[in-house]
Amino acid sequence: MCGIIGYTGRGGHEAAPILLRGLSRLEYRGYDSAGLSVALGPGRGLVTRKLAGRVGALRELCERLPAHGSSGIAHTRWATHGAPTARNAHPHSDCHDRIALVHNGIVENAEVLRAALTQSGHCFASDTDTEVLAHLIEEASGDTLEERVIIALGHVVGTYGLAVLSTDEPGKIVVARQGSPVLLGIGKDEYLVASDASAILEHTRSVVYLDDGDIAVLTPDGYQVIDRSAQVQERAVDALAWDLEAIELGGHAHFMHKEIAEQPETIRSTLRGRLMGDGSVARLNGLNLSPSECAELRRITIVACGTSWHAGLVGRQIIEDLAQIPVAVEYASEYRYRKPVPHSGDGNGSTLTIAISQSGETADTLEAMRAARATGSRVVGLVNVVGSTIAREADGGIYLHAGPEIGVASTKAFTSQIVALALLGGYLGAQRGMPSAVADELVCGLSRLPDLVAQTLELEPEVQELAGRFAEAHNALYLGRGVNLPVALEGALKLKEISYVHAEGYPAAEMKHGPIALIDDEMPVVFVAPHDAVYHKVVSNMHEVRARGGRILAVTTQGNGELHGLVDHVLRVPATMPLLSPVVTVLPLQLLAYHTAVLRGCDVDRPRNLAKSVTVE
Ligand code: AGP
Repeated sequence: MCGIIGYTGRGGHEAAPILLRGLSRLEYRGYDSAGLSVALGPGRGLVTRKLAGRVGALRELCERLPAHGSSGIAHTRWATHGAPTARNAHPHSDCHDRIALVHNGIVENAEVLRAALTQSGHCFASDTDTEVLAHLIEEASGDTLEERVIIALGHVVGTYGLAVLSTDEPGKIVVARQGSPVLLGIGKDEYLVASDASAILEHTRSVVYLDDGDIAVLTPDGYQVIDRSAQVQERAVDALAWDLEAIELGGHAHFMHKEIAEQPETIRSTLRGRLMGDGSVARLNGLNLSPSECAELRRITIVACGTSWHAGLVGRQIIEDLAQIPVAVEYASEYRYRKPVPHSGDGNGSTLTIAISQSGETADTLEAMRAARATGSRVVGLVNVVGSTIAREADGGIYLHAGPEIGVASTKAFTSQIVALALLGGYLGAQRGMPSAVADELVCGLSRLPDLVAQTLELEPEVQELAGRFAEAHNALYLGRGVNLPVALEGALKLKEISYVHAEGYPAAEMKHGPIALIDDEMPVVFVAPHDAVYHKVVSNMHEVRARGGRILAVTTQGNGELHGLVDHVLRVPATMPLLSPVVTVLPLQLLAYHTAVLRGCDVDRPRNLAKSVTVE
C-alpha cells in the first residue's frame, strides 16, 4: 500500500515540485522510502532520484540535484518485498534506464518471472517484486509504450496500480490498474494519475476512477482509457466534493488531533439528511434495500479489519437489539479463506453482508465482500472514501461523509461508522416491528450526539494530564463489557499503533480467566464503565483488579460518584442512549493514546510500520 503519482502537462510547469507536493499528501499510505523519475525531453532520457526515508528527504535531494522536465512519476513506499532501502525504492528501471516505473501492489509470480528474465540476460538492481515489471516491458515488443505494457502485464499475476515513463515517448505516462486504487486528474493542459484524490485536489476536482483491467494513456495533449485489447473505454469524470482545507492541518499539530476535534461536525455530517422523525428512523437511499427486502432479511454478516472491525462489533449489538436479526462479525482476512457454511434459505436476498471500511480499499475487506457475493449474499458497503473500490463494487451502501481521514490511526471514521450502523439498525428495525418508542429514543439519542461529543472533548486537559502515566508504561489493559467491549479493544489498538505501548483489550469478565495474572502496580488498567445494564458487573471486576494492586482509570457516566476510593482516576462522559454510548466513551481513549504518543515523541500521523489503507494481503 504505497502511494503513486504522475504528472504531464504542456503548461510549462516543472513536474518535480508538483510530484513532491502530491507525494507528501500520499505519505500516509506508506513512508519508508521515496523516489521520482522525470523525462528530460526528446532524446534526453530520464533522471531518477530515490532514497530510503521520507518525502521531505527526497525534496531536499531534489533541491541539491534538480530534475528538470514537464512530465514524471513518483512513489512513496510501504515495503512488502525487499527492505526499505534506496536500492529497493521506486521508481524501478529496466537494464538500460529507458523505462521507469512506480507500482502499488504485489506481483505474486515475481520470482518465476525474475528467474526467466535473468535467464534471458536481464540484470536486476533491487530485491523487489516490482522491478520485474520494468524488465517485462523492456522485453516486450510493440510500437507504443501502452502496447508493450499490455503485453508485459499479460505475464503478471497479482495486484497493481502502476505508472510508466519511457525515454522513447517523453511526456507520455502509461497507467494500469488491477486490484489497487488508481484515479486520473483531468486538469487544464495537464493530466495526473494518483493512488487517491488527496494528491490531485490542488490541481483539479475532475477525476476519473479507473476500473480493474483499465489502461490509461496520459500525454500533455490529453488522456485515453483502453482495455487489454486496446479498445477505448468510456469512463465517467467525477467531481471531488471536498476542498484543500479538508486535507490541511488547520492549526492542529497532527491530523489525528484535528480529526478527533472534528467529530462533533463529522457526526453531524453523517446524520445530515438521514434522520427521520416519522418512525422510520432513517432515510438511507444509497443502501438500495427496500422495506420488504429489509423485512425478509434472515442473517447479516459484517466483514472488516482493524478499527472498522471494532465498529462492526458495536454494530452487531445495535442491529441485533433494534432489528432482531442475527449478526456475525468476521475478520475479513479470515472470512475470505474460510468456507462459510450457507444457512438454509441463504441467497435470494435473505442474507446481507456489510463491508465496513474507511478507505474502501482494504484488500482483505474487498475480497471478503466478493467472497460473500459469491455465496449469493447481497453486499453493501459502509465506506468513507467516495469512489473507492468497495463503494463502487457493492450493491448499495452508506457513505460516512466524515471527510478525508489522513491520520493513520482511525478516529472520526470510527464514531461515524457507529452512527451509520445505528441509522442502519434503526432503519431495519423500523421495517421489522421495532416499537415506535424505541425509534423515537434512537432518533433523539442520535440527534443529541454531536453536542455530547463536543462536551466530552472538553476532558482533553484532564486526559493530557493522565497520559504521563501511560507514557512510562510498557503494557496496559483495557476492559469493557457489552457494547463497550469493542471500545476497550479500540482504546488498546489506538495506544498500540501510535505510542508503541503494548496494550490489550479484553472482556472485563474474561480477565479472571488469565490476564488477571498480569496485574501489578506497573500495569495501568482502563475500564470502560458507563452506567448501563452491566455497569455493576464491571465494578466487581474493578474490585478484582484493585485487590491485586492494579492502577485503575475508569471512563464512566457524568454524575457517577461511586468509584471514589476504588479507582485511581475517573473520567466522566455525558449520558447517552446505552447502545450509543461507545461514541462518547471512546473519545477519552483516543485522546489518551494521542497524548501518550506525543509525550513519547512518536510520529503520531505516521506511526512506524503502518499505512493508512492496506491494499495488499
Ligand atoms: C486503525 O487505526 C488502523 N489504521 C487500521 O486498523 C484500520 O482500521 C484498518 O486497516 C482498516 O482500514 P479501513 O477501515 O480503511 O478498511
